[in-house]
Amino acid sequence: MENIQDLKNKIKSYRSFMKSNFGVEYESDQQKQMPQPPLVKHAVEKNIIMLTKDFSSVIKESNFFTILEDRKSNRVFKNESITIEQLSFLLWTTQGIKDIKGDNYATERLVPSGGARHPFETYLTVFNVESLEKGIYHYLPMEHALEFIASVDNFEETVVDSLNGQKWSGKSAVVFFYCAVPYRSEWRYPLEAHKLILLDAGHVMQNLYLSCGAVGCGTCAVAAFDQKLVDSLLKLDGEDEFVIYAAPVGVI
Ligand SMILES: Cc1cc2nc3c(=O)[nH]c(=O)nc-3n(C[C@H](O)[C@H](O)[C@H](O)COP(=O)(O)O)c2cc1C
Repeated sequence: MENIQDLKNKIKSYRSFMKSNFGVEYESDQQKQMPQPPLVKHAVEKNIIMLTKDFSSVIKESNFFTILEDRKSNRVFKNESITIEQLSFLLWTTQGIKDIKGDNYATERLVPSGGARHPFETYLTVFNVESLEKGIYHYLPMEHALEFIASVDNFEETVVDSLNGQKWSGKSAVVFFYCAVPYRSEWRYPLEAHKLILLDAGHVMQNLYLSCGAVGCGTCAVAAFDQKLVDSLLKLDGEDEFVIYAAPVGVI
């Protein structure tokens, strides 16, 4: 149990983290002319699964106002697979890359990001997606493709455990895991990066909710998870890359 004074100090410092540090004088790694970190984490595997950008067959609801009004968190899913086209659409609308600015300077995506740093990697635990074998995948936004990372014994149970025992998540078709790569933002904004990354994550999640609404799926944001278990499940080092948000998705 944390002592009361430590707890109070922590709360104070967490509140201060929410405030703006713009205006504080420092030299960033960018100003020191240190090399810019890669815009994305590139594929480790040679065999990648290319995804379509033809979404004509997946849209079930295209009225924007209806999608906004109907948005809600869904924790009950039909026991049905989602199609690879639906999955492709959800990856595209949350982290897809439309263009690259300058000489590999920044990516332009369907979500905004402070300084266009886009400090996320997307991982999936695929339980029930047509034509994909069960397992962990990493999204490659430059190629709009997936790479297979690993299969896991007792897969659904292991994922549920890592999400603090939220059993409903094991009945989804796929869980999206958004991982932060902090240095992508720290390189330019050493003191603001951490707040910006969390603000950025909200936009990604909202796009996921709304995109699910367009294709007959549902989701629920999940921040209650076991940090060590999720990071080790996805084989992340937990320092330079770690999970900050998750979202089980399924047919509703
Ligand atoms: C940052 C954040 C974290 C959340 N974490 C969880 C979670 O771990 N488990 C869960 O069941 N719901 C979680 N939720 C969903 C909220 O409970 C839900 O958004 C809220 O009850 C409002 O309901 P609505 O989304 O249907 O409007 C989270 C939502 C947000 C925005």
